[in-house]
Amino acid sequence: MLTDTKHKWWQSTVFYEIYMASFQDGNGDGIGDFKGLTSRLDYLQDLGVNGLWITPFYPSPKVDNGYDVADYFNVDPDFGSLEDFDHFIEKAHARGIRVIIDVVLNHVSTEHAWFREAVSNPESKYRDYFFFQDEPNGWESFFGGSAWEKEPDGTQVYYHKFAPEQADLNWQNKAVRDDMLRVLKFWLDRGVDGFRLDVINFLSCNGIGEENLHRDSKGRQIHDHDIDQPGIYDCISEICDFVRDYSARRGKESFLVGEVGHEELSKLAPYQRDDLLDVVFNFNLGSMGSFDIGEIHGQLVAMEDQLVGLPTIFFNSHDMARSMSRLCHDNAEQAAALAALTLMAKGVSFLYFGEEIGMPDYIPQSVSEMQDVQAVNHYQLALAEGKSISEAYDKALEECRDKSRLYMQWNDDKFSGFSRSTPWIGETAPNNLPKVEEQINDPDSLWHWYKTLIALRRDNPALNFGNYDILSLEKGLLTFARRRQNKIIHIQINFSDQKHPVNHNPSHEVLASKGLDLGEPDYLLPFGTLITREVQDVC
Ligand code: NOJ
Repeated sequence: MLTDTKHKWWQSTVFYEIYMASFQDGNGDGIGDFKGLTSRLDYLQDLGVNGLWITPFYPSPKVDNGYDVADYFNVDPDFGSLEDFDHFIEKAHARGIRVIIDVVLNHVSTEHAWFREAVSNPESKYRDYFFFQDEPNGWESFFGGSAWEKEPDGTQVYYHKFAPEQADLNWQNKAVRDDMLRVLKFWLDRGVDGFRLDVINFLSCNGIGEENLHRDSKGRQIHDHDIDQPGIYDCISEICDFVRDYSARRGKESFLVGEVGHEELSKLAPYQRDDLLDVVFNFNLGSMGSFDIGEIHGQLVAMEDQLVGLPTIFFNSHDMARSMSRLCHDNAEQAAALAALTLMAKGVSFLYFGEEIGMPDYIPQSVSEMQDVQAVNHYQLALAEGKSISEAYDKALEECRDKSRLYMQWNDDKFSGFSRSTPWIGETAPNNLPKVEEQINDPDSLWHWYKTLIALRRDNPALNFGNYDILSLEKGLLTFARRRQNKIIHIQINFSDQKHPVNHNPSHEVLASKGLDLGEPDYLLPFGTLITREVQDVC
């Protein structure tokens, strides 16, 4: 339940994730960068989003597209310079757009000075920044295979939850914690409005302990002991306290959203508390594999019951196939209905670049076109297990996150907004993808529907701060109402493939509709939406 006294700026913010390399190239090298992003702020302002989440932009060998940070205090030359970053922040703030940045605290690139020092000088204090031991245990990496790698030119192995080039940090070591707080301070001083904390429940706060003994139905190791370790809440609380105190001393309020690596609400919920994260990413809803409105409704109800504060509402990110392909099977009407749910339901909405035009998945035609380390790793593992090349490609494609990382489709040019293909993706992208330019010129486009919904979301306190009066599902018609004081916004979305009678009270003002068939009674066509406002008399 939300109370009026607790309103924070991020509750009335619509966030938009920018995948740096793919959004807008500003210097003609084919890679998205801060100059390009700054040049698109007018676009973002026009769309109406007022919060940006920027994926990692720090110097990095980019084995995992920047989630392998080699220096936390700079900008990778591919993305620009610190001056470009400062300029971008200034221009975003001038437009009323806040910016949160991705910080990767769990691991560093093996190119980071700490790791290089740790392996070149085993006596150095940096050895204890990581986990080295003589023999691996049985823990497996999230990208497949062992979580242990032999150190270069040494005798021991080191621990990595992701790629071997991403060495895990030892969060039991106070020096690591202090160094990471310095990183957060550095970026707060440069004006960021908060952080997206990468795999934050993965921090190793209790060292290397018991073996993970169980496997799921797909044969993947269940991470019983390497994540959610004892001490994790204290660790996260130290980070959150620092950010909140430091921001408050500067008269600011920072937002902390955590990527908690779980799809079950019961495991996500404990991380969202006053002294921990403001919100967690609700993968229980957002990353579902196929569309099921019953399941979606069930998760909305469960989040209402089990979460303290607001859920997050999203169906897209750089780590999952795009909702247009995964959930909507290229049906633009269904995508419009899902957009209404994303922006009208109770929660902090996170959009992903390109979602507003219904960008579908990009399908690399061969493994040589895949950039994603997770996909390539699974390809190699499949071959090593004796699978055929075509079976290994299928496995790689299943795991491949490049699907959602194709560059933004601005206009009709082959490389649309990029002077040439990004070096790593998109050579075989089809030409007939939706384009921003076309949709802006078409008042009936998905882009305009997003713009309408975003404006409604921002302009109506009931949609930011309002609790649910109703939250029901009947024959595919999702009906909910959000109330604040005497104002109630009624939302009805027809997720069925049949037209559905709709409750249309003539005394309510229609704020937006799609697929509304007026008659006796009024109907919503399949995937139609009706949004109305009721103002109750105040006695
Ligand atoms: C989560 C990020 O979203 C993903 O892209 C990355 O591969 C892992 N964390 C490792 O940092």
